[in-house]
Amino acid sequence: MKGILQFIIMIVALSIALSGCTSNQSDDSKIHDLTVSKYDGKIKELMAKMTIEEKIGQLNMLSGDWAITGPFIRADFKQDIKAGKVGSMLNCYTVDYTRELINLSVDSTRLGIPLLLGYDVVHGHRTIFPIPLAEACTWDLNLMEQTARIAAIEASAEGIHWTFAPMVDITRDPRWGRVMEGAGEDPWYGSLVAIAKVKGYQGDDLSKDNTILACVKHVAAYGAAEAGRDYNTVDLSLRSLYETYLPPFHAAVEAGVGSAMTAFNEINGIPCTENQWLWEDLFRKQWGFDGLVVTDYTAINEMIEHGVAANLYQASVLAINAGVDVDMVGQGFLLNLKQAIEKGDVTQEQLDKAVYRILKAKFELGLFDDPYKYCNKEREKADIMIPERTQFCREVATKSMVLLKNSNKLLPLSKEIKTIAVIGPLADNKIDMIGGWSAAGDRNSRPVTLFEGVKNKLSSKTVVLYALGTDFNTSSTEGFDEAIRAAKQADVVLLALGESNDMSAEAKSRSSIDLPGNQNLLADEILKVNKNTVIILMNGRPLTIQHLDDVAPAILETWFAGTEAGNAIADVVFGDYNPAGKLTMTFPRNAGQIPIYYSHKNTGRPFDVNNSWTSHYIDVDNTPLYPFGYGLSYTRFEYSNLTLDKKEMTHPEVVRVSVTVTNSGNYDGEEVVQLYIQDLVGSVTRPIKELKGFEKIFIKQGNSVTVHFTIGQEELSFYREDMSFGSEPGEYRIYVGGSSDTENSVRLTLN
Ligand code: BGC
Repeated sequence: MKGILQFIIMIVALSIALSGCTSNQSDDSKIHDLTVSKYDGKIKELMAKMTIEEKIGQLNMLSGDWAITGPFIRADFKQDIKAGKVGSMLNCYTVDYTRELINLSVDSTRLGIPLLLGYDVVHGHRTIFPIPLAEACTWDLNLMEQTARIAAIEASAEGIHWTFAPMVDITRDPRWGRVMEGAGEDPWYGSLVAIAKVKGYQGDDLSKDNTILACVKHVAAYGAAEAGRDYNTVDLSLRSLYETYLPPFHAAVEAGVGSAMTAFNEINGIPCTENQWLWEDLFRKQWGFDGLVVTDYTAINEMIEHGVAANLYQASVLAINAGVDVDMVGQGFLLNLKQAIEKGDVTQEQLDKAVYRILKAKFELGLFDDPYKYCNKEREKADIMIPERTQFCREVATKSMVLLKNSNKLLPLSKEIKTIAVIGPLADNKIDMIGGWSAAGDRNSRPVTLFEGVKNKLSSKTVVLYALGTDFNTSSTEGFDEAIRAAKQADVVLLALGESNDMSAEAKSRSSIDLPGNQNLLADEILKVNKNTVIILMNGRPLTIQHLDDVAPAILETWFAGTEAGNAIADVVFGDYNPAGKLTMTFPRNAGQIPIYYSHKNTGRPFDVNNSWTSHYIDVDNTPLYPFGYGLSYTRFEYSNLTLDKKEMTHPEVVRVSVTVTNSGNYDGEEVVQLYIQDLVGSVTRPIKELKGFEKIFIKQGNSVTVHFTIGQEELSFYREDMSFGSEPGEYRIYVGGSSDTENSVRLTLN
């Protein structure tokens, strides 16, 4: 009964959402059809030999014991593999270990079906790149594809077939710890990053031994957790689901992503793991997704706590009937599906569809040709952390950094400096350099700290002092004196402040996103004795650093920059690389402004300084501390001659936008030229600006470059009043500048 009701509600929602929709809709008769794989014959031949128990075993995923990524549910997984009760595993890697496990599946089971091995390879496997939120600040899609490619090469060299990435959740609440895993707040940009990542992991041929299956997650709207508290309720309109949260998932599906993960949260009162509308209708029928659907960790079991299932039996029935294929860790499918089929609560056909999709993935990866093709000792030795990759890792890190403030041109520093003090809880701290979700990355000995990076950069003529100053979670000022002494002796101080790596990622929500502990106090004390203090921020989310912005002359956001962190920061600080990173997530002034994002609506009472009855706070500005798209350079860029080749356009014409960007400063540098569109009058309210184009360009000092963009129907389209996707005639404002707060604009009329 419940399933039918849910179905009716979702179908009503769907038909509203899709009436008149121009995107690819498939024939109704195909709702429950599988897309035929090129391995169809082989899959069916194998399935014909399988018992119902063997089929159910394929749907069961257990966790190995090399990493803990959720509550521990212990099963004797080796016994279970031998008994044919396991189709896939997570948290296992290295050639020896994966070979041992695969061997159990191949040699000890009746049909010898190899295991599928997954792991959270999120920003590198052994060579660890900056966290994804940092990498997104490069605005370099090719680079983001390359880092995923390298992650896939290294992971596959250690026996991994499948990564639970990319995480493409749009997030507008920096209290949520998982903002570090995604590309930030913008759905259009997030979609481009999703495509780059899928291409990077999967390459052009999944059967190669260095490509792995990607998994887009978490479907859907996990980033909208109320109050930024992880796993919390999500309650949003169908419009914001379509406009904001779904686009990167759709883009990943269009890019051919091989799998998708259910989110822990609910949508419209229905947990995503039992959401038939989401999986059967939207993903499979409307978007044509033919990959695997895996639950998040014990998400089936959690439907009992959600209060939509009385027991694991019911939860498992709901999940498989919603189109879920793989049960991660919870064992609900393993323990209940046979009985559910016997009782008629689940059809044999539903089970077969899941088995088909799992076997299809295994065939596509080439595991039936050679189950050990990813267990190659030679590759494990030769293809991990090679020097060119480390060098590339350093380059990516420099490009991820965002210069937030640079008064009096304090940066870049001279390499001839006599004495420099490197101070703070993150100044010489290996453990925190690579951030959360760092796969098999070594966090104890390999990462380069800031102190090390500075010493590597400078000659022995410079004295490099170090002091801890304070820690993250203390009010003790015991270390202050030593730090103040070092600061007094130095010509310049690099003060490394921020969060420890375990303050962001899963289950790491914060109600305050201030600098933890007494780090602000330390900054005040250091600045009292040395005005030439550069704040080096390391953190996994936007922080509220109004105080630092008020008191410090220079602030460089370096995030968790990965294996080469210290060297990369030194490259930027000493001017070997001119910073060009731009934020992809807004920095609020205080946590009370959250959610805060650039593409907000105007409201009926937009803020007017002369009218107090307009939308504002009485204790803080409406503006963020640093907006989306913001980031400084050592040089200066000026924008001029913003023009359109026509002021009016008619469907299906396109309009060409041109702008001249001049490097009028004293350094060569890169600039991210950003194009935003505002639809001035629509059938529904529209954001004040939406990113619809960008170009990252290099300009030598004193030179100018003209940048062109094309605007067509796609850029002007949105979900209209009836939820159909398309444009409406009317007036638009086109903005081009170096940040989302640009006022540089021209008008365009669409007839
Ligand atoms: C996380 C997923 C992750 C999974 C496996 C879960 O707790 O939400 O993002 O892929 O664990 O580690």
